[in-house]
Amino acid sequence: MNDKIKKGLFITLEGSEGVGKTSNLEFIKNLLSKQGIEFIVTREPGGTLLGEALRDILLGDQFKGMADDTELMLMFAARAEHIAQVIRPALSRGQWVLCDRFTDATYAYQGGGRQLDMSRIEGLEHWVQGELRPDLTLLLDAPVEVGRERAGKRSAPDRFEQERDAFFERVRNVYLSRAKAEPGRIKVIDASCDLARVQAQIAEVMGGYVEDN
Ligand code: TMP
Repeated sequence: MNDKIKKGLFITLEGSEGVGKTSNLEFIKNLLSKQGIEFIVTREPGGTLLGEALRDILLGDQFKGMADDTELMLMFAARAEHIAQVIRPALSRGQWVLCDRFTDATYAYQGGGRQLDMSRIEGLEHWVQGELRPDLTLLLDAPVEVGRERAGKRSAPDRFEQERDAFFERVRNVYLSRAKAEPGRIKVIDASCDLARVQAQIAEVMGGYVEDN
């Protein structure tokens, strides 16, 4: 790529249920806006018309008993569309992309939660993404019981939220082991403390990236 073209930064936000993704996403948006950074905010599964339709299928109860392989491939179908229509175009315009979940969620939920073969996920990742990987991933981490307690206060649970604690323990473990394997990209944020302290950790991590801008 021509190095005069400044590529935007690709930031993803991850975590299990009830770790406070929504409020912290708002905090990160404010942080980027204050720095005058041009960015888009998007999510997975979703982010395009087709992707949002797949999200409804994946999270709703209509196809509750879908096969695990179907679930995995629908996640990547949504992702392929998202990358082609939204993520790559934004990054090549020089915009930053702030994405609520990405492929680490597939490793955690389909690989960990559903116990699908990680090498299948790797294969799909290479096929669908080529070399595209997030530049920075913020992993909001809290014990499963803390997340369960917080998530329980919200509306009716979706197809994933209906899973048992053992599923979310596996999700959390995969997230944490990925963070251990890639400490340069995945930053673990302790999300079990109060919001102000969570946001202080996020601000500290983001500081390094924002200043370089
Ligand atoms: P949320 O982003 O609103 O929390 O909901 C999305 C749900 O989809 C969440 O339970 C995690 C799940 N998910 C996967 O299982 N695999 C994936 O690859 C992605 C992006 C999300």
